[in-house]
Amino acid sequence: MSNNSFVRKESSEHERALLARSDRHLACGIRSASINPAYSMVITGGKGARVTDASGNEYLDYLLGSGPMFLGHAHPAMVAAVQQRVAEGNSFLLTNDAAIDLAETLSETVPCAEKISFHNSGSEATYFALRLARAYRKRDKMLKFEGAYHGMHDHALMSAQWTMKPADFPHAVPNSAGIPVQTREDVVIAPFNDLETTIEIIRTHADELGCVMVEPLCRTFVPRPGFLQGLRDVTRALDIPLVFDEVVTGFRLALGGAQEFYGVVPDLCAGAKAISGGLPFGFVGGRADIMDLAGRAGVEAGNHVRLTGTYSGNVLAASVASALIQELKAPGLYEQVNSRGQRLKNALTDLLRSADIPAQVIGEATAFQPWFIDHEVYDHRSSLGLHWKRHFKLQDLLLDRGILKGQEKFFVSTVHSDADIDLTIAALADSMDELKAV
Ligand SMILES: Cc1ncc(COP(=O)(O)O)c(C=O)c1O
Repeated sequence: MSNNSFVRKESSEHERALLARSDRHLACGIRSASINPAYSMVITGGKGARVTDASGNEYLDYLLGSGPMFLGHAHPAMVAAVQQRVAEGNSFLLTNDAAIDLAETLSETVPCAEKISFHNSGSEATYFALRLARAYRKRDKMLKFEGAYHGMHDHALMSAQWTMKPADFPHAVPNSAGIPVQTREDVVIAPFNDLETTIEIIRTHADELGCVMVEPLCRTFVPRPGFLQGLRDVTRALDIPLVFDEVVTGFRLALGGAQEFYGVVPDLCAGAKAISGGLPFGFVGGRADIMDLAGRAGVEAGNHVRLTGTYSGNVLAASVASALIQELKAPGLYEQVNSRGQRLKNALTDLLRSADIPAQVIGEATAFQPWFIDHEVYDHRSSLGLHWKRHFKLQDLLLDRGILKGQEKFFVSTVHSDADIDLTIAALADSMDELKAV
């Protein structure tokens, strides 16, 4: 029995018909990645911290579109920004005022971002950060960490989070079909949180490396004290650009992202989700001498990096991002969201411990995850061998209680109220017996 009043409605005829059309027309049915097929749903809308499905179920949402809805669904500032600009035209290819405003704001807000380029997703942002770094270094290889996810391009999908059978370091394995075999040679893999081994790999491959790219919070593996600073020191000494993938952490951990939160400033960063309002958006920010390779300086130096496309600096996405950054500047906002997230994270830790379910709840206050495993989890390899049935079951149990979480993180938003957190803790408490029984 649930402690809250939610009773999940069976999938309606209308929703089943929509799902059948999705299967017929969508190559991978967007739903397939994140929900148990038995709970397949079609989302019809979202408001604040809640989303609604086509059968009329309303869920308290900790998936948040995989992070972008950090300020909640249909935030009034986002809606107003879109409404104001959409009627005035929104795609010109030429530089527009909204993009200039946002670039200026990003430069003032993100520590490493002396200059900015705009893109349409997190994947594009990491891809173009990589290209900029390679051009600057005139070297082709990328070092990334095992288990880190940087998006869907070829290099990003080497030894990413779906690596069940890792190769010996520094060898990479592809996480998708269709990636050219050559890419294995272009990606060097290191263990997150193992500074000594990583430095050894960086030094060995220094003459080939175009960049070191890292998710500062790698999935939910928290960087050990000194790890990011150690990367900073060795990359600076060797003049290899250090790239932070801040697609998740940017504007979420702090206004200045992980670089502000952990106090380590990279050469380049890729950003996207938390200020996108859910619109297609990404950016690269970084040192002017590297970013300038995308402009006239790059042409004059015979080292020009091409990275713009039709929608770069899209007026709607730029206007929304500027509006949401203003919202995030509200005094006390980060203190409040972090304290609510931390309360939920602590409660989950305590409940699992009391129920005697082996688990590690790791990550930061607004992006954390329970790993159902009986030892410390600090990198990809230490996370292998988790209790997959419990991992999947938690999502089902919460859906039964009106709570939507992804298969990985709990994302906490600025619009999850104290009452929402209480309700979630009650639903979690109510789920423990069934979770343990799995
Ligand atoms: C750390 C990180 N980098 C890159 C990406 C790719 O972003 P997008 O899905 O916008 O392409 C993601 C997406 O989840 C991510 O978590």
